[in-house]
Amino acid sequence: MPSEPTTETPPRSPAATRVLSGIQPTGRFHWGNYFGAIRQYIELQSAGDAYYFIADLHALTTVRDPARLRGLVHDAAVDLVALGLDPSRATLFVQSDVPEVTELTWLLMTVCPMGLLERCHAYKDKKSRGLPADAGLFTYPVLMSADILAYDATVVPVGEDQVQHIEVCRDLAGTFNHLYGEVFTLPKPRLVEGGARVPGTDGQKMSKSYENTIEVFEDLAAQKKKIMRITTDSRPMEQPKDPEGDHLFDLFSLMAAEADRLKMAELYRRGGFGYGEIKKALVEAAADFFADARRRRDEIVADAGRIEAILADGATRARRQAGDVLDRARVACGLARGGQGGRG
Ligand code: ADP
Ligand code: TRP
Repeated sequence: MPSEPTTETPPRSPAATRVLSGIQPTGRFHWGNYFGAIRQYIELQSAGDAYYFIADLHALTTVRDPARLRGLVHDAAVDLVALGLDPSRATLFVQSDVPEVTELTWLLMTVCPMGLLERCHAYKDKKSRGLPADAGLFTYPVLMSADILAYDATVVPVGEDQVQHIEVCRDLAGTFNHLYGEVFTLPKPRLVEGGARVPGTDGQKMSKSYENTIEVFEDLAAQKKKIMRITTDSRPMEQPKDPEGDHLFDLFSLMAAEADRLKMAELYRRGGFGYGEIKKALVEAAADFFADARRRRDEIVADAGRIEAILADGATRARRQAGDVLDRARVACGLARGGQGGRG
């Protein structure tokens, strides 16, 4: 059982809203990532102080090609800014640029019961499929906890699949605080609304693992080909169809103007159309929806050095914040000597 707190650290006053989230650079962003996560992160940058990072340390558990990882991290940063992440409002950085987080991971590891991690689904799923898992995958939720606690985050927007990890984070923060005093701020998950399950080209959930993705910034001709190949049922042309639950209609709805969405629903209910027509409408809606982002992306790519400057500035700001939290944790658990602060 944890003993009573051994230090006299005063309770921490709750911070104002601080939003934080991370996204793994394990592939180019697809529509599922955008509508299910990124869009909400960008909306939340005006809700308060926001920190967003590219989780390259987490990606190391799956991407084992150094050149590819470097490219994916860079592309993720370019894509996020092109999609509307505003570096003057939100701190955008790369996870591994803040080494304080890995030290904090160790401190949290010492208060983390094995059983807590054994219940986490990423590891459990792999194990149940008889696949070998490494310690990186096993302890992934502890690194994620450090990511969150290092920035005193109060709100963490995530998809359903990550809620369990926020619970682990709260659990570890609570245990550490109980042992050593009020060091960490307990975060709350914020489930992203709207794009809960964006369908892929085969109607299943869009995911890299199912090879059914449509990437946000892929070449328009390649994107068109993919869209024209989206699987559909073999409904005859003249037969009316309920648009609800039809994956082609769902995708169209994400990107079309409301009036066009209503017209399309009407067309489904009336019948007498071929799916080719809908697919062409989707090709156009997608091109229009992301046209500004594509333009911004071209500008960023042409401005050599801009992204690196944004990430360097983000890393400086992020390190300052994570350094403060790490100092607090080091002092509280007895690693810092003679009142000399944290890392001296
Ligand atoms: P993938 O399944 O392609 O590997 P990730 O697991 O890297 O995607 O997803 C990153 C984020 O994007 C997650 O927070 C997840 O909630 C969101 N996301 C991914 N795919 C979808 C989808 N098809 N619908 C809604 N959200 C999604
Ligand atoms: N594990 C998250 C994912 O796969 C990414 C992530 C890493 C994250 N650290 C985080 C998300 C901290 C929120 C907060 O999607």
